Amino acid sequence: MNYGMKGRELRYKEDAKKTIDKLQLASYNEIYILSIGASNGDADQHFINALVDKYTAIHYTVVEPATGPLDDFKRLIESNQERWSGVKFSFHVQGINEYLEGGGTSDKYDVILACHSAYHFHDVVNTLCCLYDMLPQNGMLFIRIETDGGLEVYFEHSEQLDIPLYFIPGKEIKRLIQLHMPATKIDVITGATTVNVTRCFDKDSIYGNNILDFMNQIVDVRHSRPPDEVEKCLKFFREQCCYEKGDDVLFDYIDEDIIIWKK
Ligand SMILES: C[S@@+](CC[C@H](N)C(=O)[O-])C[C@H]1O[C@@H](n2cnc3c(N)ncnc32)[C@H](O)[C@@H]1O
Repeated sequence: MNYGMKGRELRYKEDAKKTIDKLQLASYNEIYILSIGASNGDADQHFINALVDKYTAIHYTVVEPATGPLDDFKRLIESNQERWSGVKFSFHVQGINEYLEGGGTSDKYDVILACHSAYHFHDVVNTLCCLYDMLPQNGMLFIRIETDGGLEVYFEHSEQLDIPLYFIPGKEIKRLIQLHMPATKIDVITGATTVNVTRCFDKDSIYGNNILDFMNQIVDVRHSRPPDEVEKCLKFFREQCCYEKGDDVLFDYIDEDIIIWKK
């Protein structure tokens, strides 16, 4: 049986289109986007494709501290040169906390994307409020976050592992928004995918190692952490977060898009 991240990609593509369609900003020509923790642009590409169908001039700012994945993002831009010709990219190679503390709060964006990166906000409430304040009326703060399933079990028990993991569940983000921005309107899209992670247990699998990097928030985790730590994480992941079906090791991946509209 074939389970994989493909189902998740398809969902992301459709949801990005629906979400961008809902935008009702003052301008239908020019738009300013901030993407936090964009990595290699895998998730961003769906937003960019939806944006170029609606806007003619797109200013796309990326704040991402990891240079390796950013090089992949730049290659993705090259391969979409024609379709994305109306997009002007700028890159800040730093974390969001440093960007905001360094004066970023005075920048203005129509849309702010944080796909699986809100885990890295140092002061979650303050960062959410800063980002919200940077938006115009009808602007959108989009937070994609792990909410349930095997990965949440992994994150929530990270104190048992030696790898330090940053995690805040989707339900906590929603609680904080309702508490600190009570007048705002929130849409939530929840998506579930069953992922075949059998290859995570094959040390030579590129696909498996990419999944391990994603869940451990570390580039090349297998080689950058001591082998006994990696083994401990794999054991915990397999025994506590996954289940088996025939020869396959599967886990349920459930994340949530929390879409906050500026009043
Ligand atoms: C789990 S990945 C998500 C990648 C991509 N947005 C996605 O949804 O597939 C988290 C990303 O956040 C980046 N990151 C780590 N610390 C960060 C920080 N302080 N500010 C912004 N991004 C950060 C990581 O380098 C990584 O690329």
